[in-house]
Order: sequence, then C-alpha cells, then structure tokens
Amino acid sequence: MKHLLSIDDLSTDEIIQLFETAADMHDVQGREVKKLPALRGRTVVNMFFEDSTRTRSSFEIAGKWLSADVINVSAKGSSASKGESLRDTVLTVCAMGVDGLVIRHPASGAAVQVSQWVDAAVVNAGDGMHEHPTQALLDAYTLRRHLGSLEGRHVAIVGDLTHSRVFRSNVQCLTRLGARVTVVAPPTLMPSGIGAWSAAAGFETSYDLDEVLRGAGVHGRPDAVMMLRVQRERMSGAFFPSPREYTVGYGLTRDRLALLEPDVPICHPGPMNRGLEIAADAADAAQSVVLEQVSSGLAIRMAVLYHLLAGEPEGGIA
Ligand code: CP
Repeated sequence: MKHLLSIDDLSTDEIIQLFETAADMHDVQGREVKKLPALRGRTVVNMFFEDSTRTRSSFEIAGKWLSADVINVSAKGSSASKGESLRDTVLTVCAMGVDGLVIRHPASGAAVQVSQWVDAAVVNAGDGMHEHPTQALLDAYTLRRHLGSLEGRHVAIVGDLTHSRVFRSNVQCLTRLGARVTVVAPPTLMPSGIGAWSAAAGFETSYDLDEVLRGAGVHGRPDAVMMLRVQRERMSGAFFPSPREYTVGYGLTRDRLALLEPDVPICHPGPMNRGLEIAADAADAAQSVVLEQVSSGLAIRMAVLYHLLAGEPEGGIA
C-alpha cells in the first residue's frame, strides 16, 4: 500500500494485517514500552486544515512512539491563512523531505488530489464528507475486541449520514468484514442515492431507530450501535428536524439505552454532542466504548504508519 486514502484501497487481508499489527502495538502499549525504532529517520507531517482533537493527537503520538520526526502544520498559523494554495502548501512542506503526509481537509477528494502531487505516502485523516479510513479501521478493531469476528454480526449506524465521512468509511469496512449493517437517519439526513448504494453493497436503511433497536428490522437486534455526530457546521440552512425532534426520533436516550442488552457496545467517533445524538447515560454507560475507540485509534495509526513507512528509506539508513 502506497497511500491510505479510502477503505477501498485495502484488501480484506490488508485490513486484517493492520489489525494484527495494531494488536502488537496494543501489547507494546500494555507493556508501557512506548518507543519502537521502526520509523527512525522518517519524517511525518500532520497537515490539518480542519479542527481535530483525537485524530491529530493520535497520529502525532503514533509517529513519535515509532521514533519518526513528527511536525504539525495547521491552516491557522501557516501561510494557508495568507491565501497560499493547498498545492503550494504541500509542495513547500514536501520540499523539506517528508516521508509521510497525514492530511485532513474540508474538501471531499483533497487527500486523493494531494497524493497525485507528492512522492510522500499520504494518509487521509478525513476529507470533507467523503472518507475517514483510519476511523473506520479503529471502529472495526474496537468492535472485534468485543465481539470477535464481525462475520454475521449486526451493527446499527445511526445519525447524520448525509454529512458523515465516518459512515461512508465504516459501511465499506464493516461489510467487507462480513458484518450486517443497518444505517438509520431521518429522511432529511439520509444521503441521496443511498438506495442504489445499499442494494449494491448489501446494507439496510431505516428511518425508525426504535424498530431497529428492538430487532424488528431485517437483521434483528443489533450486536453493536454506532452513534454519529450531528454536523451542524456542514449544514447550510436550518437544521431539520430541530434538535429537540432529532433527539426524540434519533437520539440514544436513556429509554433507548434500556432496549439494548448490557453487553452491546455503544460507539461514537467523537466529538459527541451530549444531549443531542447521545444522552450522558449512554455515553458514560459501562457498555460505552468511546474512550476505548480513542486508544484503539493510537494502535491503528501506529499500524498504518508502520505499514506505509517502515523499511529502508531511499539511500538507506546511515
Ligand atoms: N473522530 C474524529 O475524527 O475526531 P477528531 O475530529 O477530534 O479528530
């Protein structure tokens, strides 16, 4: 693998291989041996043109724990804020000798575009409403730790699907691993054209969260529930349904939490809108794996950087 731009870049075998490497990294973390020499002599630049807490800091820690030199560039504080183009910005940074470029950008397709301009390995850390492949990998990795193989397991993905790159990457990753997926959203936040996509990819759609949680849908009761953030910042007009209507229809409220078996993992990629798509009772429940997703993210991002960048740098290691 030269870049990681989409889940589609990975074969099923490569996904499983990343999970196995991540499990080794988890062992490393468990033993509190934080430094591995694997990426000594490599330079990784985290280039974030959109805000981030989890993804940016975990890529930074992952690179450092693998002994890479890690530099962070953000739109605010860089010459991008003076109007420098994306192309000029990445070419300028790469002229300093960069091996890996981790990029988040508000435009869908930005990571693919950047990969065509540079020799460095490019990792998509979220591009607009398109994809967030490392998030999907860490979500599936976390679910496998709880459920074992995902073959035949039913995962319900609930929320603002129209604006969600996490949903797009997760549907691909989970179905590839054999999971049965139901996606749930209000009609106004269900992506257009999803009928053809769901038919081709083999996942179900629903507008009725209660029906899905009660197991009245095609796939029966969910083995895991993934709540997604309502992305107000990507909505141009009024948010419909209203926040109150959204919570009543689609929030994981205390009452809906009671519909789930106590061992059904509750995921959320974060950041969470507590009280909107997820109640505090659910976010902080014993079955919530939200913080475990964060630590899985570190192991997965170490695995991704390792697979992309480990090995002899051009010219050899001195
Ligand atoms: N899940 C996720 O991408 O979170 P951040 O925006 O904090 O990186």
